[in-house]
Amino acid sequence: MAKKICVVGTGYVGLLTAVGLADFGNTVVGVDIDKAKIDALNAGKPIIFEPGVEEYLERNIQSGRLRFTTDIAGSIREAEVIFVAVGTPPGENGEADLQYLMRVVDSICQNLNGHKVVVIKSTVPVGTNRLVSEAIIARGGKDVDVVSNPEFLREGKAVYDFFHPDRVVVGYSSPKAREIVEDVYRALHRVNVPFVWCDWESAELIKYASNGFLAIKIGFINQIACLAEECGADVQIISKAMGMDGRIGSKFLHAGPGYGGSCFPKDTSALAIIGKKYNAPQTLIESVIEANEGQKIRVFNRLRQRLGTLKGKTVGILGLAFKAETDDIRESSAITIVGKLFEEGAQIQAHDPKAMGNFEKIYPTVKYMNSEYDACKGCDALLVLTEWNEYRSLDLVRIKNLMKEPYVFDTRNIVDQDELSALDFSFDFIGRAGK
Ligand code: UGA
Repeated sequence: MAKKICVVGTGYVGLLTAVGLADFGNTVVGVDIDKAKIDALNAGKPIIFEPGVEEYLERNIQSGRLRFTTDIAGSIREAEVIFVAVGTPPGENGEADLQYLMRVVDSICQNLNGHKVVVIKSTVPVGTNRLVSEAIIARGGKDVDVVSNPEFLREGKAVYDFFHPDRVVVGYSSPKAREIVEDVYRALHRVNVPFVWCDWESAELIKYASNGFLAIKIGFINQIACLAEECGADVQIISKAMGMDGRIGSKFLHAGPGYGGSCFPKDTSALAIIGKKYNAPQTLIESVIEANEGQKIRVFNRLRQRLGTLKGKTVGILGLAFKAETDDIRESSAITIVGKLFEEGAQIQAHDPKAMGNFEKIYPTVKYMNSEYDACKGCDALLVLTEWNEYRSLDLVRIKNLMKEPYVFDTRNIVDQDELSALDFSFDFIGRAGK
């Protein structure tokens, strides 16, 4: 049976959850404290760039199953199930900051009226679901079930991921809660998506362990790439062959300028802290955090080595987002690299199909260009940092004519090396010998 749901927090995860659950047939109200955001969402305008989300938003608003409001109290009172998807940004010591989550818990406690399931989607440290459950019970919420339901969406593919998850993880402690969550997700049950029903602590740790493992995979291939450059091997071939081993798998083995985004950096730091707290040090995770910072610096150092001095040089950059298909620049390698280029006196002209507006808020003095070709004009070097599709088929003849010096450093291995060679460019790639 379809449920009455309230989703608190309409950021990335919250918005996708609200839209997706409404599409499953539930009645959903999305809640946020940001009035401007709520107005935009009610008008069918997503506040994030995410392929496909606008259609789902419009469709479900029109069907009457989805609306947005700032009225948290009323929404909690009306709901049978409350999804909590507020941010848990790293606090001062890197540990997830739970203040927004605890504010929602406070609102729930103030608006208790019968049985409710509180589903925590936000990524939270081990022990948080238990803590929340105890806090609610202590304030009279004996009839409230807390459920941990971590999110595995990828930015850029979030709509697809919502409807085709590899698995849904649910940490719970009462059969009634399980039944209700089964109802909420009935549409996924029908298409045989595997569900992992477990205790709270396992569910919480599954999220950190998954992101941590993927970060290690990337960190590993980036270090192999470094070795490949030095000994004349090709990381592309290496990762392809490694990926053919079913035990390893081919995904997340693309060498690059270091991982970024709102998840891996935050979750690896949090996992390292959780490990220390429980006296089970996560030394692999600690190493990968360090290695990932090192990867960004390595990109910069290599560019500097090529150009000699950076003072007065113009560097064209293609791609500022932390990955393709998003306007998100959080923890993007471009932030570190641009910072270092500026420090050493370079001028930067950059292009990104979606992320220039966000990047401009941090670096207003970068020259933001209308096209990838404009970004090449008069440059001493062209640095490819994000794997946008439009950068996979660049007109290199045109680029050679536009650049001052024909040198390309492709940190995503998407530019055609043979063509660069044939056109007599100098070049570098990650994990392959340069020329
Ligand atoms: C990641 C996880 O993939 C999701 O499953 C998870 O739900 C999400 O974090 C989260 O915790 O919310 P996301 O941050 O959107 O998703 O992006 P990814 O596609 O995982 O990429 C992360 C970073 O790794 C990007 O900077 C990307 O360029 C880099 N990456 C990825 C590589 O350098 N190489 C690869 O092979 C794959």
